[in-house]
Amino acid sequence: MSNEKDCSMYTEHVESGKRKVTIQLKVNGHQVVRDIDPTMSLLHFLRDDQKLFGTKEACGEGECGACTVIMNGKAVTSCIVLAVEADGAEIKTVEGLAKNGKLSILQEEFIAEDALQCGFCTPGFLMSSRALLDHNPNPSDEEIIEVLSGNLCRCTGYIPILRAVKTAAERERKELGR
Ligand code: FES
Ligand code: FES
Repeated sequence: MSNEKDCSMYTEHVESGKRKVTIQLKVNGHQVVRDIDPTMSLLHFLRDDQKLFGTKEACGEGECGACTVIMNGKAVTSCIVLAVEADGAEIKTVEGLAKNGKLSILQEEFIAEDALQCGFCTPGFLMSSRALLDHNPNPSDEEIIEVLSGNLCRCTGYIPILRAVKTAAERERKELGR
C-alpha cells in the first residue's frame, strides 16, 4: 500500500512502512528510474543500486575525491550528494569514459605516464580531470593542480598525474580537434 505525495522534483511515497522517493536520471547515457531511500547518497546509489563499482568510497566526507563523478558537467564528490539531488541530472562515472571497449585518451595517458599504482584514487582523478578538460581543453599546470587539489593519492605522487592530464589534453586537441 502506498501513500503518495508529489514533491517539486521527485515523487515521495511509503512502501512497507518505509519512505521512498522515485528518482529519474541519466547514468552514462542510460535513463534510470528507481525507488530509493531518500537518505541514500549518490555514491551508494551508483555502487549499490547501479553496480557501478568504479566510483570508490574512502573518506565518506567529501575530503579525498575518490568518489568523484560528473553531474551535469560538474565534478562532484558523490559521497556528500544525496541521490535525490541527482533527480533529473546527467551523471557520468568512470565506466562512461571508455567507448566500445576502447579506453579514452585520458585513461590511456594515465597508463602511459604510470599515473597510478593501487588505482584506488584513479577514478576520482580521471573524473575531475575529465570535467576540467571538458570545460578547458588547454589548461595550464596551475589550473590542473588547482582542480586536482581536491583529489588525494597515497601512492603514486602527483607529478605523473599532472603529466598524464597535460599529455591527454594535447592529444585530445590534436586528435579530437578540441
Ligand atoms: S569518499 Fe567522497 S570525498 Fe572521499
Ligand atoms: S594510486 Fe593508490 S591511492 Fe592513488
